[in-house]
Amino acid sequence: MKLEDRVAIVTGGSSGIGRGVAIELAQEGAHVSIADVQEEPKRGKYHDQDLVTTTGAEVDAAGRRSLFVRTDMGDNGAVSKLVEQTISEFGRLDVIVNNAGIHIPGDSQSLSVADWDRVVGVNLRGLFLLTKFAVPHLRRSPAGRIINIASVHAFHGGGGPAYAPAKAAVVNLTRDTAVEVAADGVTVNAICPGYIETPIQDYLTEEEIKAAMEKTPLPRLGLPSDIGRACVFFASDDAEWITGTALPVDGGWLAPIV
Ligand SMILES: NC(=O)c1ccc[n+]([C@@H]2O[C@H](COP(=O)([O-])OP(=O)(O)OC[C@H]3O[C@@H](n4cnc5c(N)ncnc54)[C@H](O)[C@@H]3O)[C@@H](O)[C@H]2O)c1
Repeated sequence: MKLEDRVAIVTGGSSGIGRGVAIELAQEGAHVSIADVQEEPKRGKYHDQDLVTTTGAEVDAAGRRSLFVRTDMGDNGAVSKLVEQTISEFGRLDVIVNNAGIHIPGDSQSLSVADWDRVVGVNLRGLFLLTKFAVPHLRRSPAGRIINIASVHAFHGGGGPAYAPAKAAVVNLTRDTAVEVAADGVTVNAICPGYIETPIQDYLTEEEIKAAMEKTPLPRLGLPSDIGRACVFFASDDAEWITGTALPVDGGWLAPIV
């Protein structure tokens, strides 16, 4: 196992990509603290309609320990407590996966200022918060890792005035934090998913999902496990000399664009 007895926090870990990440980390031996506003998995219009188990139950079934911590990533105090509770339960922290994210569609005219603040608050500010509170503990780990979930939309226009710019900033935040903590042996990398089958896609039409699939050179949408396996790589010793990168895991979606 590549992550035997390491301790990870996965934000937005109850559903979609975060759930897939938590399960893949557990299958490689990690204990997982799952931070989310809800414990039940989201059931989408197109994907994950029939999920019955919680992520914690899946981590337990893999023979690892799980902890659910109800956390709103927009709440400074809650994020600080998430780290405290994880340390008190497991005694250490090795990996954080900053995954929680939301998407509210709209352009500069239709998106309200409050919704812009909400999207940037969860998708960018939330990552800064967990990083801030986790770094002192990651510095003590022999293999401290920060993995930020950005998006292919970080690299092009047309993704809306809040979500895509927040994801572009996540790529830069990844590089900034990588420089800050490298001397302590902590690595910081971003993963940029393409279109992944999760409930976040509820805002898309069936035609838009079909179009996304047709634009993906490897002819399928991604699965949470595709992102989970990339997280295992970054968390493992195999990636100990890789930091400050942004890895597309997108079936080739970006290849014709950038
Ligand atoms: N699915 C895709 O196609 C896709 C593509 C690129 C990037 N992403 C990114 O991947 C990440 C996960 O997305 P997903 O597709 O799994 O979404 P999802 O909606 O399926 O799951 C997101 C999870 O985050 C939780 N969450 C939402 N707001 C939160 C908050 N304030 N605090 C804590 N938890 C919160 C939700 O309850 C849910 O469990 C996001 O950052 C998203 O932007 C997804």
